[in-house]
Amino acid sequence: MSASQEYIDNNKDQFIEELFDLLRIPSVSTDSSKKDAIHEAANFLLKQFQSMNLDTVKLYETPGNPIVYAEHTPHKDKPTVLVYGHYDVQPSDPDELWTSPPFEPVIKDGNVYARGASDDKGQSYTHVKALESFKKTGQEIPVNIKFILEGEEEIGSPNLVPFLEEHKDMLSCDMVLVSDTSMFGKDMPSITYGLRGLAYMEVEVVGPNRDLHSGVYGGAVENPLNVLCEMIAKLKDEDGVIQVPGFYDKVIPLTKADREASAALPFDEEAYKASLGIEAVHGEKGYTTLERASARPTLDVNGIWGGYTGEGAKTVLPSKANAKISMRLVPGQHPKEIAQLFKEYFESLAPDTVKVKVTEHHGGHPSVTDLSFYGLKAAAQAFEEVYEVEPLFAREGGSIPIVADFKRVLGAESILMGFGLTSDAIHSPNEKFSLKDFHRGIKTSARFMELLAES
Ligand code: BES
Ligand code: MN
Ligand code: MN
Repeated sequence: MSASQEYIDNNKDQFIEELFDLLRIPSVSTDSSKKDAIHEAANFLLKQFQSMNLDTVKLYETPGNPIVYAEHTPHKDKPTVLVYGHYDVQPSDPDELWTSPPFEPVIKDGNVYARGASDDKGQSYTHVKALESFKKTGQEIPVNIKFILEGEEEIGSPNLVPFLEEHKDMLSCDMVLVSDTSMFGKDMPSITYGLRGLAYMEVEVVGPNRDLHSGVYGGAVENPLNVLCEMIAKLKDEDGVIQVPGFYDKVIPLTKADREASAALPFDEEAYKASLGIEAVHGEKGYTTLERASARPTLDVNGIWGGYTGEGAKTVLPSKANAKISMRLVPGQHPKEIAQLFKEYFESLAPDTVKVKVTEHHGGHPSVTDLSFYGLKAAAQAFEEVYEVEPLFAREGGSIPIVADFKRVLGAESILMGFGLTSDAIHSPNEKFSLKDFHRGIKTSARFMELLAES
């Protein structure tokens, strides 16, 4: 075993303590009252790098949340790996559903429970500790390393894309390493080679100039909530096919090889249904559950509101109705184009009794990693050595839009080396992360760097 791997074994508990300190910081990016926590988390990471004697360690302020940057590039003849992660987290609500407070990490059954445990503090911190395992054992890091840890991933990385464009030369690299995805299952390490994009819309349907008595006016005046439901019902047909004209025009169809690779994955549909408490799966006709959840585009209502939702019954004909609607996109689809197509179609569905307003929230491009990319070999071998099983290659349905920008701006492929599980409850109450995977993650990252240097 290398000195670095030994160091990781010997400092297992110390690393957990440190991760807990990071998890105690409520760095929720969407909550403007949490600005201090955002800075605290950024400074925590900055200090970590400062203790490692690297070439460059710097906090970049942006119009939003700071970017933590670290660089150590001692080699002329070794590849450069850009590690990306995010220190911001989703809000913890609904807090009453947590069995322990979201920002007071606790260990139960070998897992740490806290907001951000898996997404993405726990996962991204593995690489910080891997770097440390070289620097603190008096070794040189085997490859050139650059770190970019942002605080705005959960709000669509509005300031990271301009940062990439502006610091293209500084960030130049041979590949990007990201741990912000999931393993296929417990003890089934996976390399994710596809992520979906996103177009996120908000719609408003407006009827009468005020809420009305539903007895006095009901039947004679259009109800915007009824209309909104009818319009939403026209967005998909009974086969789960999205009805927005042009929606599928640019979708790159799945190849036979894509479909075979997906079908070969050890997916257990019965266990899937049981884990979700559902009797049957549902989705686009002609595709499997795995394909529907990772490689095909979707359209979903995320929230809908309007009218009376309080206690008891209030007879009211609401003056307006709203919904948030998201579409997951696959290679070929462009978020701006899809948003425009949606807007046109949705507006066309409105009867002349109401006014409709469609606005667009942040979106993102889908991405796929080229499976012949040489960096994947070192990643797969590192996984195999640490987990003692070959990793799987799978596409995932979530979105990390910056991955497409790494390709576009830096020309770099991303290696998505996830250590989380789909059952980690990211974005939900009781988020958790396996401490065993935290430990194995650090070892896998360090081994990856060693193997990459040899390749
Ligand atoms: N880490 C997730 C994305 C993810 C989760 C990818 C699981 C693959 C498997 C990321 O932090 C996230 O939540 N992304 C958002 C999109 C973003 C633009 C807010 C998402 O997927 O909803
Ligand atoms: Mn994430
Ligand atoms: Mn997330």
